Amino acid sequence: MAKTTGKEAMTTERTVLILPGDGIGPEVCRQVRRVIDWLGRTQGLVFKLEDGLVGGASIDQHGVPLTEETMQRALAVDAVLLGAVGGPKWDDVDFDIRPEAALLRLRSELGLFANIRPAKVFPALADASTLKPDVVAGLDIVIVRELTGGIYFGEPRGISELPDGGRRGVNTQVYTTDEIRRVAAIAFETAAARSGRLCSVEKANVMESGRLWREEVTRLQAESYPSVELTHMYADNCAMQLVRNPKQFDVIVTDNLFGDMLSDEAAMLTGSLGMLPSASLGEADRAGHRRAMYEPVHGSAPDIAGRDIANPIAMLLSLAMMLRHSFALHDQADLLEGAIDNVLSGGMRTQDIMGPGMARVSTGVMGDSIMRALDKLNA
Ligand code: IPM
Ligand code: MG
Repeated sequence: MAKTTGKEAMTTERTVLILPGDGIGPEVCRQVRRVIDWLGRTQGLVFKLEDGLVGGASIDQHGVPLTEETMQRALAVDAVLLGAVGGPKWDDVDFDIRPEAALLRLRSELGLFANIRPAKVFPALADASTLKPDVVAGLDIVIVRELTGGIYFGEPRGISELPDGGRRGVNTQVYTTDEIRRVAAIAFETAAARSGRLCSVEKANVMESGRLWREEVTRLQAESYPSVELTHMYADNCAMQLVRNPKQFDVIVTDNLFGDMLSDEAAMLTGSLGMLPSASLGEADRAGHRRAMYEPVHGSAPDIAGRDIANPIAMLLSLAMMLRHSFALHDQADLLEGAIDNVLSGGMRTQDIMGPGMARVSTGVMGDSIMRALDKLNA
């Protein structure tokens, strides 16, 4: 996507807040710091790194999943890199202060309405998918998920008592014209920079918010993006088509909840959730800068945390997305993605993407190999 950023001069100071979070978050963020150090050493790129607590780690220390101070720092920096939040340890905390609440607050207060989730099958990993290799080989799609509206944030919401002693749980799916148009615009631009095809996904057959979604996306296409080929699909059909023939898609735009589910499904097409990065972008200011947060699609994976076996690639690819979208450092993003590609082609695998005849390595050794591959590409 063009014009998501304005920063480019080598002299700019780039401030980045790293929020490692819980579970495997800190382990994968450690690998990110190594690459950022490498960019400083070899590319002369200055990043001013800050770090903070988020999720359960912050609950343990401060009693809340995100402090005011950390929120303010997130608002002040150029970009946020987030590991993952949550875990069984905090399953019983109040709903309002659960680790996930931090994530939702960051998205909402930073105004990160567009969540870009690419699902790309690395050639070396076509066998790692549970689908047949010919269905997924060469797959390269992008899901643009609306991230600050819909049923995640709609009012009214809550659980109330009923006179008959039962209870009632309510959430509200709501979208306005503006909310639909701004995320659709990002999706159209993303599509225009790729194959020029966009599929908009909702349930216009049963939901008014879906009908509005379809009408507004259609209108925006006619007004501003006539060269992008727009199709529409119901969300249930899209879920089915993604496993039947995922390569029919290029860019998909959809709401918050459908996007949550379809992006997990798309991730699994690529072999592992451990491979998928994401970028969450806000409105561009007058200089063209957008607030942004980058995080892997995977969660905190408490079952494997602390064992040095997590796959750091989704986090590193999120760093590559940051280089591209927040700082227009396309050459360096290419370097990092190229290094990851080379390491995978060389047969290195963390346990989640392990295959016959491959070398199973730890998080740290995967990191070491990617650093060496970076050196080699840069030589
Ligand atoms: C995601 C996650 C989050 C979401 C959770 C952790 C709140 O599943 O980023 O996809 O539902 O948005
Ligand atoms: Mg999800």
